[in-house]
Amino acid sequence: MEIKNICCIGAGYVGGPTMAVIALKNPQLKITIVDANPDKIKAWNGPLENLPVYEPGLADVIQTTRGKNLFFSDDIDNAILKAEMIFMSVNTPTKTEGEGAGMASDLRYIEACARNIAKIATTDKIVIEKSTLPVRTAEKIKEILDLEGNGVHFEILSNPEFLAEGTAIQDLLEPDRVLIGGDETESGQESVSALVDIYANWIPKDKILTTNVWSSELSKLAANAMLAQRVSSINSLSALCEKTGANIDELSKAIGMDHRIGSHFLKASVGFGGSCFQKDILNLVYLCKYYGLDEVAEYWHQVVKINDYQKDRFAQKIIDHFGGDLTGKRIVILGWAFKANTNDSRESAAIYVAEKLFKAGATLEIYDPMVSKESILDDIQVYWKCSSEIVKDRIRILNKTSSIKESDAVAILTEWNEFKKIEFYKSKVFDGRNVLEESFYSIGKNK
Ligand code: NAD
Ligand code: UGA
Repeated sequence: MEIKNICCIGAGYVGGPTMAVIALKNPQLKITIVDANPDKIKAWNGPLENLPVYEPGLADVIQTTRGKNLFFSDDIDNAILKAEMIFMSVNTPTKTEGEGAGMASDLRYIEACARNIAKIATTDKIVIEKSTLPVRTAEKIKEILDLEGNGVHFEILSNPEFLAEGTAIQDLLEPDRVLIGGDETESGQESVSALVDIYANWIPKDKILTTNVWSSELSKLAANAMLAQRVSSINSLSALCEKTGANIDELSKAIGMDHRIGSHFLKASVGFGGSCFQKDILNLVYLCKYYGLDEVAEYWHQVVKINDYQKDRFAQKIIDHFGGDLTGKRIVILGWAFKANTNDSRESAAIYVAEKLFKAGATLEIYDPMVSKESILDDIQVYWKCSSEIVKDRIRILNKTSSIKESDAVAILTEWNEFKKIEFYKSKVFDGRNVLEESFYSIGKNK
């Protein structure tokens, strides 16, 4: 099948940057990104400085491709109808109700995509899982497509995305690998080749890995679990460092210089955040339990439990410093994003730490250079479940950091570069990212 038109359903942190780079490297293709949220589409078509996703380098790629071979549209049906290849890049959050609530992935958005494709398609299509999904989801998608479709042929591929936010463009331009899983049938392998050809326009062939569908689906969950496991491992050791006088940064360096271990993902922190690590590990835990592998489930669950412990431990340090009650204390929160160089705050450690401080009585002043005031207030409303009246009295969102001087304590929760340059009052800084040479409290250092 010759590929000329691509549709991507889901214009989020993955759909937007991923398709922009594919469009940049494949000027012969016409790519249309669609989304159920028309405001998001409007923003993608709007000024480059207000794109819905902040990523270094993204605006330049959008400027080069938008309106040429990359289009953003809310006409989902038309884009599906015209495309030979459809990427599904919708969100797959943790289920909040029903069987598997709090653990399993909520597949309602992916299933809605499949139903929509089945209803609209009048020609054969290659349907690609770009979202992160439980292993064997392709089976479910195929069932929907074949049962509800119009008799056309659908080939399902798994092509998980490994980009990290904050470095998405670099990760897409020079990925460690691209993974494509397909059926071992003739039509399956033809579809795999069609997708390989698209990536091969800028990625060396030896970095394009092809596997069966289930290995591809499961590799994505496994990769995130292994990465998060390293963070929880180093964070668990940070607690022991604080008891013994060992220094976690020295420990990370010493461990990471062993080439069998490697130096990445050994930075101790207040805890990992982001929309994926926790939800993907919980999904893995659920899958293991589903298959009766209780010991394996418990092993991976511990990675999330240590992360919760680390966030809690950090907040408790501050509360204990003030004798257990923060009433009347002004605390500045520096950083709301889950890591630097992104405007994304989903599952950010800051949300949990700030909540604990607030509920211990503190008045909070929150500053982040990229996360908007609306997003911060939205997070507070959604996660803390506090009335807006209480919030109004004791929370202020800052657009600069000038009030640090007058505060009782400062908590650094995101490793933004600009925090390294602020003139700090070291005696009151709790550094949750170890960005400062000196502070009152740093993770895994005992003074
Ligand atoms: P996102 O929430 O930023 O974007 C998803 C978009 O899909 C939303 O804009 C939503 O409106 C849209 N959508 C949902 N259902 C739809 C439907 N039926 N029709 C049309 N549009 C619909 O999510 P994201 O961060 O881009 O993540 C998407 C997937 O990619 C998830 O499975 C995630 O685990 C995975 N992933 C994310 C990252 C990351 O860094 N964020 C990296 C790798 C993989
Ligand atoms: C992560 C993976 O790195 C990507 O490969 C994957 O595609 C993505 O999840 C996904 O599936 O969504 P991301 O969550 O964007 O990417 O960012 P990371 O750089 O992995 O950081 C995750 C969290 O771990 C952040 O809060 C970060 O501050 C924290 N972290 C990371 C540490 O605390 N220490 C480290 O050494 C590394």
